[in-house]
Amino acid sequence: MKMWNGRFHKPSDPVMELLNRSIDVDRGLIKEDIQGSIAWAKALKKCGVLSSAEQRRIVDGLNNLLNEHREKGLQFLASDEDVHMAVERLLIHKIGKTGMKLHTGRSRNDQVVTDLRLFVKRQYETLGRALAELQKVLVDRSNKDLTVIMPGYTHLQQAQPILVSHYWLSLFFALEREKRRCQNAFLLADSMPLGSGALAGSGFPIDRRKLASELGFAECASNSIDAVSSRDFVLEALVCCSSIAILLSRYAEDMIIWSSKEFGFIELDDAWSTGSSMMPQKKNPDSLELIRSMAGRLIGNYTGFAATLKGVGLAYYKDLQEDKKPLFDSYDRIALVCKVFRHVIESLTVKKEALKQSLDPFLLATDMADYLVKKNMSFRQAHKVVGKIVAYCIEKHLDFQKLSVEDLRKFSPLFDHDVKKIFKWEKAIEHRNVPGGTGLKSVKTQIALARKLMNK
Ligand code: ARG
Repeated sequence: MKMWNGRFHKPSDPVMELLNRSIDVDRGLIKEDIQGSIAWAKALKKCGVLSSAEQRRIVDGLNNLLNEHREKGLQFLASDEDVHMAVERLLIHKIGKTGMKLHTGRSRNDQVVTDLRLFVKRQYETLGRALAELQKVLVDRSNKDLTVIMPGYTHLQQAQPILVSHYWLSLFFALEREKRRCQNAFLLADSMPLGSGALAGSGFPIDRRKLASELGFAECASNSIDAVSSRDFVLEALVCCSSIAILLSRYAEDMIIWSSKEFGFIELDDAWSTGSSMMPQKKNPDSLELIRSMAGRLIGNYTGFAATLKGVGLAYYKDLQEDKKPLFDSYDRIALVCKVFRHVIESLTVKKEALKQSLDPFLLATDMADYLVKKNMSFRQAHKVVGKIVAYCIEKHLDFQKLSVEDLRKFSPLFDHDVKKIFKWEKAIEHRNVPGGTGLKSVKTQIALARKLMNK
């Protein structure tokens, strides 16, 4: 039996119920819903709607429900439309008709969005932990691979030598930005709608400030129409999850390529790889592929709900019920993906020898141009001279790094014996101790900064 059925002459069609029912999804808000109701009961007592005894009865009943939920889970009925109706029904069942007073001055419209904001705020902590754990592994990994040199790529063409540690740290700092994005999403969610009623504001003189602080909100929403209608904080949370997924997807893409036979830069631990049902020799980087794929799903969660939201006028419409599934899914998947990614990085083997063998002599072409610049040639000229040397090597099948000074002098008289010094990978690395660069000193500074940020 529906709690709202007074004006109806017949029950909803069962097929309508299938579409309308949201309990299977919004049961994920049970803790927040009970927490919100406990605070609401206290607020009702404060403005004289409930006596002290009634308030105590309701709060005890709700706390008992919360314990039951933790211990064995609550029994929902097929007729429970959503988590709010279910909790109210269970409360009335438990404490009798006093429970019927709880919904005074409140609507599911301000209730659901309060629950959801509490949920987003709670998830911020969970996600923040997942990101921090991943960052820690990246710093550990950077220490482990501190001096290992690899070819750095642009356009999937070898570009300049870099330290592997420098590469891992690039993800650390990108994640630091993601943490800031999540923090912003938290702040946007940190405003309490409760007391807004269906849309016009509660008909009872609720102390909303007190209620907000009871629920841990920084402020109360300033406008009741906005409070029940707004779901931009959901979009923001979905953006955070997709942005992290997009970031990890790009690193996964690199590492999938690196783990191929053709590259052989890394090998994934068996625990994070899978085999083939047909080809006995196969070891596939499925963990990374699934991480990469998750970006698509999470972008879909964002765009799906954004498309739903754009057509919804004010204040509350049932379309808004569709916010939870994408939100829950995005949080759930991003936490899993962060965890798997962390383990993959922690356990993989960096193949130092293969990395060394793969270094293309031309990786030092920029360093040769820089050498000429230091001898007073303009960079544009130097670029051209070295370009010609590269073309000459390709044409004659010569090793760029083994050219004699005499050979080089045919291209510019500025070449001297000291040019030999640039033909060392370590030298090219050392050459880039500019802040943020791949030089060992610079990377060590980046690690120190990363540590500082982690301990903040
Ligand atoms: N289950 C609904 C939702 O998730 C709760 C609010 C329903 N409000 C209403 N007036 N029908 O959005």
